[in-house]
Amino acid sequence: MTKTWTDASHTPITTRKQRIQRLAIVLIIVLGMYLCSSTLGRVLSSAAPYIPRRARCLATAPVKKVQKTFKLPSGDEVPGIALGVWQASPGEVGTAVETALKIGYRHIDGAWIYRPKAGPQEKKPAAPPNKTGITPKLWNTFHAPEDVESALDDSLAKLGTSYVDLYLMHWPVAQRSDGSVNTDLTENPYPTWQAMEKLVEKGKARNIGVSNFNIRRLTNLTSNKLKHIPAVNQVELNFWNPQPELVKWALEHNVILEAYSPLGSNRQVSESLNVPEVKEIAEKLCISPAQVLISWQAQRGNIVLPKSVTPSRIDENLHVFEIPEDLFNKLEKAATSHPPKRVVDPSKGWGVDIFDELDE
Ligand SMILES: NC(=O)c1ccc[n+]([C@@H]2O[C@H](COP(=O)([O-])OP(=O)(O)OC[C@H]3O[C@@H](n4cnc5c(N)ncnc54)[C@H](OP(=O)(O)O)[C@@H]3O)[C@@H](O)[C@H]2O)c1
Repeated sequence: MTKTWTDASHTPITTRKQRIQRLAIVLIIVLGMYLCSSTLGRVLSSAAPYIPRRARCLATAPVKKVQKTFKLPSGDEVPGIALGVWQASPGEVGTAVETALKIGYRHIDGAWIYRPKAGPQEKKPAAPPNKTGITPKLWNTFHAPEDVESALDDSLAKLGTSYVDLYLMHWPVAQRSDGSVNTDLTENPYPTWQAMEKLVEKGKARNIGVSNFNIRRLTNLTSNKLKHIPAVNQVELNFWNPQPELVKWALEHNVILEAYSPLGSNRQVSESLNVPEVKEIAEKLCISPAQVLISWQAQRGNIVLPKSVTPSRIDENLHVFEIPEDLFNKLEKAATSHPPKRVVDPSKGWGVDIFDELDE
């Protein structure tokens, strides 16, 4: 007969039979839990088309939300999502900005060229709360070094502020007031950049950067002895034009990329939202297709600038989620497996091969 004995603290020590019984009970409980959850999962997935997405999503584990900020050379932290207002009609910009500020946006992307036409329909937004980053841009016709400061002064007067958080060279294209291209200043934008650097020293711009620069143009500019390297490069980044080499270059050279037209712009937004991989991830994570595209750009290491004038979308676009690695890689592969196609490219109209992509 097996004896039961006690240890030094008089705790009865279990017999082999008891241990086997306990193990069996634990196994039965674990198996039961697994069967219940997988049955529930099967029931939910087979009934998926009949259950409203919201109800189905309540039964699944919530996907992790991400709130990312980026440190600029001034030491300022900027939020990883900014509201874009390009192509918003007069009358829409003020309301969209006001809605965004109420919802919690603290980063607004603007430009001298997007200035709303003053008119009775245009609502002037209330003064933005403290710590709201505003990014105006230097337009092509003000690249001559002597025009740079007065161009910013004009934007400052319109914004009713004494300095901007980030000031960008909008395009690597210098034009004269008649629209003709100044080829020297286009191929060598260093004099324009030096004039922008003075704006930092004068306290009118806390940070300066560029926009629409490809790797060749960035390398060309940064080969000069710069006092301030470009804090950001604002470029088109979306499913149709994912630019993986530029993303890699920027990460290696500490230049933050800002992803513009992340949804494919007005022209291609519906195609973007209907990409099968985007829809699949949206379905799996219970988030919207627009949130998939914005979260994907954020996860690639970029600031993202979705534009909307629709209050529910302005809200939706601020919520960024963590995409699991396998799904992230699947989307990255799909985006980089087709020939890239730009949504925004004024090269032909301006007569400058901005991205070195035009056929000879
Ligand atoms: N540096 C540059 O040269 C440059 C060039 C282009 C753009 N940008 C910047 O990037 C910003 C964004 O780019 P973008 O305006 O070309 O395009 P985008 O953000 O890719 O797409 C805007 C379009 O998507 C729609 N949309 C927004 N959120 C949506 C959602 N959650 N679901 C469905 N549709 C949604 C908008 O409609 P509604 O507005 O009607 O909601 C609009 O039609 C611009 O506003 C600008 O600040 C910079």
